[in-house]
Amino acid sequence: MQTNLRGRDLIGDLDFSKEEVETVLDVAWSLKRKRALNEPHAYLRDKTLAMLFFFSSTRTRGSFEAGMAQLGGHAAFIESETTQIKHGDTPKEIGEIFGRYFDGIAIRHCDWAVGNAYINEVARYSRAPVFNMQCEIYHPFQCLADLMTIMEKKGRDLRKKRIVVSWAYASSYLKPISVPQSLILQMPRFGMDVVLAYPEEFRLMPEIEQQARDEAKKAGTSFEIVHDMDDGITGADIVYAKSWGPLLTTSDPAEGKRIQDSYKSWIMDERRMQLAKEDAIYMHPLPADRNVEITDEVIDGPHSVVYDEAENRLHAQKAVLALSMA
Ligand code: CP
Repeated sequence: MQTNLRGRDLIGDLDFSKEEVETVLDVAWSLKRKRALNEPHAYLRDKTLAMLFFFSSTRTRGSFEAGMAQLGGHAAFIESETTQIKHGDTPKEIGEIFGRYFDGIAIRHCDWAVGNAYINEVARYSRAPVFNMQCEIYHPFQCLADLMTIMEKKGRDLRKKRIVVSWAYASSYLKPISVPQSLILQMPRFGMDVVLAYPEEFRLMPEIEQQARDEAKKAGTSFEIVHDMDDGITGADIVYAKSWGPLLTTSDPAEGKRIQDSYKSWIMDERRMQLAKEDAIYMHPLPADRNVEITDEVIDGPHSVVYDEAENRLHAQKAVLALSMA
């Protein structure tokens, strides 16, 4: 167990070593147990977290805010649009100033080629730890909750378990690529064989795919890319099918939508669920485009673990905050 997480930022998935992630998960399960037993666990009494949003959220906002209250502290909800950030506060100023007001700064900024750099710039000038609530590259807290959920359902020894991270069609908007990128980076370290399935235009960042390949090699697991949804899902223990935009192919939203609309057949449905192992689980970070991206039958069906997965956001995040902000 590695306990030296006080003051540490969490911006990219690999910022914490495998052993540090295991520590986070141990603490997350302890906090989950305490909450179930209604045991007080105010490890962050009098501590405050700034939650700065440049992009909308339901689960992330709710779970960070509830988590800070349960830990005895307070989370301040701050939107870029309704503050002077809109009129020119720089990331340096936010780091310097919020780092003095708050004991931690959490940021969601998903703008392409802007969000991750912004979060790192705030971290550079902040004396308090900085947490990535999702950028255009990573969604590390979602990924911690996903790993926690997989271990609860499949056991802590995940060697040789096959996870497919598959693109699926959505009509609502071009979703960020951060969830699949975080998954392919983190899961090989825990022994899983990772299959990434997408139509050619939906490739991820080449450097992230290469890092995933390197992590898989180091861990003695496999990382494979396929371009057929059925091939990817066949024989999987964990099916993680969700949409993302063709952001490496085009920066034009209209062209992206046109490309996306040509793959409507990539829907996660019951026929496809049957291609996975009999005891396979289905995961999605939510929100999902129901009956477009994923059918009701699957997301509300016996394989789906999406509500446990959403719940684990709370416990995994509380663990990181308690370890970093104490
Ligand atoms: N999964 C997730 O991050 O949900 P929100 O966008 O609602 O926060």
